[in-house]
Amino acid sequence: MTDILLSCEHVCKTYTKETWFSKKEPKTVLTDINFSLKYGRSLGIAGINGAGKSTLSKIILGIEKPSSGSVYFQGINISELRRKRDFRKNMQAVFQNPASALNPRWSALKIVTEPLRNFFSLTEREYAEKAEHLMELAELNPKDLHKNCMQFSGGQQQRLAIARALALSPQLLILDEALSSLDMSTQAKLIELLHHLKDKHSISLLVISHDIRVTFNLCDDIIVLNQGKISDRLHKEQGLPEERSPFLQKLLASAKCV
Ligand SMILES: Nc1ncnc2c1ncn2[C@@H]1O[C@H](COP(=O)(O)OP(=O)(O)OP(=O)(O)O)[C@@H](O)[C@H]1O
Ligand SMILES: [Mg+2]
Repeated sequence: MTDILLSCEHVCKTYTKETWFSKKEPKTVLTDINFSLKYGRSLGIAGINGAGKSTLSKIILGIEKPSSGSVYFQGINISELRRKRDFRKNMQAVFQNPASALNPRWSALKIVTEPLRNFFSLTEREYAEKAEHLMELAELNPKDLHKNCMQFSGGQQQRLAIARALALSPQLLILDEALSSLDMSTQAKLIELLHHLKDKHSISLLVISHDIRVTFNLCDDIIVLNQGKISDRLHKEQGLPEERSPFLQKLLASAKCV
């Protein structure tokens, strides 16, 4: 068995938008993206706004189709999957703004058990027990399960989103700017939680951020995207490379790393 959980092979994406009166110029957003992520490891994708990071995450999640190239998850080409249901169980995502990702009228219990309700038919007692465990995993107080989502702070709401993402015990957690709307100290606490989930629960992480510090804090390997192309590949254990593209240099400078 291979130790590769996720790989992108020659992934390209060009958007072409036609309206009834005109055909717009095609826009190439990703060109020849190649990388792989091993089980239990973490990979960062860093780049400025518009670099193509979210387009890549949507392709990996199967929300968008690549124009060419392939994404393999657990050895299976995801565009050839007829039933996406089981694949979705193993790959979950957390996005930037918890307030818009969570239903403001729902309780924490309803939020974190929603994925379970889609897949399993359990008793209310069993859902509540699972929910308590998920709250603990996300380092939230299980006594708060009956609180409404809006009664949680921004950082706690993002923990709820993480708890919900963990409900189906995924192998891969994709974090697309998931820490970007949070202040520095909340970010630091969530980084600690994500390290814990990776190390103790063997969850692989794909961390997408415009802030290269976040990817450096969380990831073993980092790729830098610029205008849809990989400009740099970093390996944390090797430190910062001597040779850096101007795009990496800019990201480091904006994060005050150099
Ligand atoms: N559906 C679409 N149709 C046409 N162009 C698109 C579409 N989705 C994204 N784009 C374009 O693709 C480029 C990359 O967008 P993307 O959202 O992937 O960037 P990003 O790196 O995630 O940026 P940010 O840091 O702001 O989240 C942008 O120029 C965007 O306008
Ligand atoms: Mg984005």
